[in-house]
Amino acid sequence: MSVAIGEWLQQWMQKRSGEPAYRQLYRLLRQAILEGRLGPGARLPSSRQLAADLSVARNTVLQVYEQLAVEGYVSAATGRGTFVEDISHDLPVRARPVEHRQGAGPRAAASGPRLSERGRRLMSSLGYSDRQYGAFMAGVPDVSAFPARQWMRIQNRHWRMMRPELLSYAPSGGYPPLRQALSEHLGATRSVTSHAGQVVITSGIHQAIDVAVRLLCDVGDRVWIEEPAYWGIRNLMVSQGLEVVGIPVDAQGINPRGHDLLHPPRLIIVTPSHQYPLGMVMSLARRRRLLEYARQHGCWILEDDYDSDFRYGGRPLPSLQGLDEAGLVIYAGSFSKMLFPGLRVGYVVVPERLAGPFASAVAELFREGQLITQSVMADFLREGHVTSHMRKMRSRYAARRACLIESVHARYGTALRIVGDKAGLHLVLALPRTADDVAICRTAYQRGIMARPLSSYYLLPERAQKGLVLGYAGVPEADIPNAFTVLADVIDTELRKS
Ligand SMILES: Cc1ncc(COP(=O)(O)O)c(C=O)c1O
Repeated sequence: MSVAIGEWLQQWMQKRSGEPAYRQLYRLLRQAILEGRLGPGARLPSSRQLAADLSVARNTVLQVYEQLAVEGYVSAATGRGTFVEDISHDLPVRARPVEHRQGAGPRAAASGPRLSERGRRLMSSLGYSDRQYGAFMAGVPDVSAFPARQWMRIQNRHWRMMRPELLSYAPSGGYPPLRQALSEHLGATRSVTSHAGQVVITSGIHQAIDVAVRLLCDVGDRVWIEEPAYWGIRNLMVSQGLEVVGIPVDAQGINPRGHDLLHPPRLIIVTPSHQYPLGMVMSLARRRRLLEYARQHGCWILEDDYDSDFRYGGRPLPSLQGLDEAGLVIYAGSFSKMLFPGLRVGYVVVPERLAGPFASAVAELFREGQLITQSVMADFLREGHVTSHMRKMRSRYAARRACLIESVHARYGTALRIVGDKAGLHLVLALPRTADDVAICRTAYQRGIMARPLSSYYLLPERAQKGLVLGYAGVPEADIPNAFTVLADVIDTELRKS
């Protein structure tokens, strides 16, 4: 038997010569035991003989036997040799294949457990891109302009102080001085009414909405989102098993009517300061109507204030939260657009009665940390670096926006309309109904230009308008005309086909 094992191992080891001998031998013996080819009681060759058969050092074999013994696959009987243990009672019981709701049958069973229904729905509507930088990536600021020196100076100060408590998990709600600084900052810049206890630090708006949904909605509950809306939030809802209803927007923002008003949702998610992606501002009348409807029907409202600080003409509008007297609005924001998205620092300002549950939910579900980052962020905000960076960026983005608009006009005159360019980091180039905006974006991507198809922001295909969402904030002015020419050539080719 010993000789047979040696020959068999030899053949296999020769086939896989790239792997170190110790690892190969260990893996092959373990596999043979697990598969029953070396059954309980089988005697392994002596270490001396196996080493000779395989032309490896005896120590290698001894180490493998020792490792297998530690893991319970074999045991050594002094003077008699090394024997395979009976491990049958340790192996998982072979259950009968579970019948799946869809695709049940031999093939489904053979391929093992599958994604859940909502997991599959999520996979079928993914929107993220692996490329997140360059012309005309939407939703990303000019990260190259981040004042890294100031950040490093503050960061070094915090590391020098070396407070061990900042290296552990975060207290619920996040770093208290950052919560205080944010409460003051948001009060001054966005008319958000709060005290520090209502501010909860998150890793961004995504996490804020994820927590809001877990705390406020049950699986199957109805949620309203704007139609069109940011795909990331839509997919978050889908993956939480909610009934997602898209409510069309008009020039004044979200506009629920007739049938929708008769079926109130649990949660309404809106972007009142700068509708994403179309760019309109929710009128005061519409804000009041929405707040009143939510009060009457017991709905929560989540205000996604993702990029309202960048307006080109006029002052940023006050938040919806500032108008809320019934304690129904959850205000979510982040530093993703103000500073850089990879920072992953965001915040929610929640009504008083949700402050405890929100802070506890983030601590319990995500075990947040990043306290050093949060402490640097608090000083960065307090020392005025956020405000001065934004001032600088506002004029830089205004110039880039003007440059992109000029490029569009130079090529198309008024033949293609520009929408939603009064604020934020992107604009929408409207296309004819017959245009295939998805194909345009796919081809443009192959030529190194990123654009998002407007139609992909709609839940219902029959409502989808065609267009391109173009981010300009991260593209230097000098690059914009050429990048737009490449894109326009793709647009023209595709439009000729439609
Ligand atoms: C409308 C909207 N909300 C939220 C986010 C994501 O924000 P965060 O980076 O804070 O998770 C984005 C990102 O582009 C967005 O466009």
